[in-house]
Amino acid sequence: MTLESLPKPVLFAHRGAKAHAPENTLSSFRLAVEHGADAIELDVKLTADGEVVVLHDTTLDRTTNGHGLLKDHSFAQVRALDAGSWFSADFAGEKVPTLAEVFEAVGQQLFINIELTNYTTPRDALVEKVVDLVRQYHMEESVLFSSFLSLNILKVRRWMPDVPAGLLADVGWAGFLARSPFGRRIAPAILHPYVADTTTELIAAQHRLGRRVHVWTVNDPEDMRRLFRDGVDGIFTDDPRLARQILTEQ
Ligand code: G3P
Repeated sequence: MTLESLPKPVLFAHRGAKAHAPENTLSSFRLAVEHGADAIELDVKLTADGEVVVLHDTTLDRTTNGHGLLKDHSFAQVRALDAGSWFSADFAGEKVPTLAEVFEAVGQQLFINIELTNYTTPRDALVEKVVDLVRQYHMEESVLFSSFLSLNILKVRRWMPDVPAGLLADVGWAGFLARSPFGRRIAPAILHPYVADTTTELIAAQHRLGRRVHVWTVNDPEDMRRLFRDGVDGIFTDDPRLARQILTEQ
């Protein structure tokens, strides 16, 4: 299940089927399978004692019943938290998963975009541990790395040269990172631009360079139709079921 072997456009379920289940949980990833996603996107971070867990925010407050910075909590403390009730009582008792658990739960069914979100914590430790886990679970052909941090992309490309890596362009930066030799040197093969920055011309220009374009985060049906018409290589969406339906209608 390599990235190249997936049908285009690749539908990445953003933090799982986030529109219908609590983000970055095993429930949201399993629902992504049911809803017809080709792939999932998830965010990795380290606990205080060095476990690689799947959580978007640096703090626990929004998506669990815990408080404070994730990096100040041990894995045992994080594991005791409820990561589902904030979304709906139907998901009460949901846990913050480890990356290993996600590999075990859906790694055979879905391709996985691992966003390296070590934007505030010690950087190398996370990247090293994630690379080790990918090797340990033999996931080299089933993952794609992404990050807003150029250093992360350079590092994973050096450590796992055969695993694809895409540079995330923050809001307003896609044009620069698409055109500049700097952006292309960091991630020659894949750009992840923000939806409102992704024009027909940007996609065409990247394709002329042989570069794939995966767009975040696409939830508006009109944006989906426009990007599918423009031949986008992939989208990140909170609602893969909706995206699949629109893609089928095109
Ligand atoms: O990877 C696409 C998208 O997830 C990037 O933004 O804030 O959700 O990590 P964010």
